[in-house]
Amino acid sequence: MKTLYFCFFAKLSYKSHLSSNTLNYILQQLPIIYLAPFQGITGVTFRLVYAKHFQGVDKFFTPFFTTIHHSSKLPPRKLAELGHPYENGIPVVPQILSKDADEIIRFANFCERLGFDELNWNLGCPYPQVANKKRGSGMLPFPVMVEDILGKVMNEINIKFSIKCRLGYVSADEIFDLVPIFNHYPISGLTIHARTGKQLYTGKTDLETFEKLIPLISPPLTYNGDIFFRKDFECFDKQFNTINSFMIGRGLLWDPFLPAKIKDLTIVDNQQEHIRQFINDLYFAYRKQMNDNLSAISVLKEYWSYLSMSFNDPHKVFKKLKKVNRFDEYEDAVSLVFDEFNWVGA
Ligand SMILES: Cc1cc2nc3c(=O)[nH]c(=O)nc-3n(C[C@H](O)[C@H](O)[C@H](O)COP(=O)(O)O)c2cc1C
Repeated sequence: MKTLYFCFFAKLSYKSHLSSNTLNYILQQLPIIYLAPFQGITGVTFRLVYAKHFQGVDKFFTPFFTTIHHSSKLPPRKLAELGHPYENGIPVVPQILSKDADEIIRFANFCERLGFDELNWNLGCPYPQVANKKRGSGMLPFPVMVEDILGKVMNEINIKFSIKCRLGYVSADEIFDLVPIFNHYPISGLTIHARTGKQLYTGKTDLETFEKLIPLISPPLTYNGDIFFRKDFECFDKQFNTINSFMIGRGLLWDPFLPAKIKDLTIVDNQQEHIRQFINDLYFAYRKQMNDNLSAISVLKEYWSYLSMSFNDPHKVFKKLKKVNRFDEYEDAVSLVFDEFNWVGA
């Protein structure tokens, strides 16, 4: 409803002379949409090409960085990932996965020098090899540790510091011990993926616990988890009227138009042709970034495992792409997909 309300006024504002206060008020009603970080997919090349082709995303979060020994010693490939603090005007927020306050401070200062104005701390990574070392969501059962790190970091950095977490590692109750800590520090934003770490990406999101958290949390709150279609967003929007900020991952990878669809922005008539141009640009951009190394195909195949979901026969579409190993095979498979299958979108 908030979306429809906004769109009505947004369209009206083109033709009339609404005061800036009114426009600001209206703009505040527009849902804020962040691209969720995806290790292996949403790197600098994806963000660059995505931002050229699609509208509706308000902020990009990079996949996480780890093991920052010294800023000047970041390998060139990782440094290139931090090449653009903005992508077509959209701010980019680097993310760090760490349990070492000094490392976080070093990385924050480095990001500041590169022109970024926010760093995001990953307290959500669920994989056992990470979580067992009390990193990512594995730190959530240890509030003292979280507080100790925040106490050190918040005094030493000049850029905004936000957090992305889950409800807990083992149990969704763990977050309630973290709330007073998150509220105590000037955290610029808290994104909650409404699952536990142990759940990985399975089972349902725990909306009941998320709802209980809403009145308790002081930093600006963003919801994340299982928004695949516009109707998922609408249900959520209706249930949690006070939440206006959403992070979307898989839904956006399935259908890159999803943020624009949620915001009711104008979308090209021929979506299939637009997707085709996007995927072709992405292909050449990856080839360039990887100096024509065949590993570009693996990255594209990984992305097709999501994009194929928005075609009329996802299984068959992905099967065509899965078996390719050379650039000419990839090009043929993509042509065939766009000739023989239909883009249906979210
Ligand atoms: C392959 C993969 C890689 C991911 N990489 C990251 C990451 O680097 N940092 C992070 O905070 N979350 C990462 N996530 C989690 C997503 O950002 C997001 O929180 C999750 O997919 C839930 O959102 P969704 O239901 O909209 O996809 C990853 C998820 C997947 C499946």
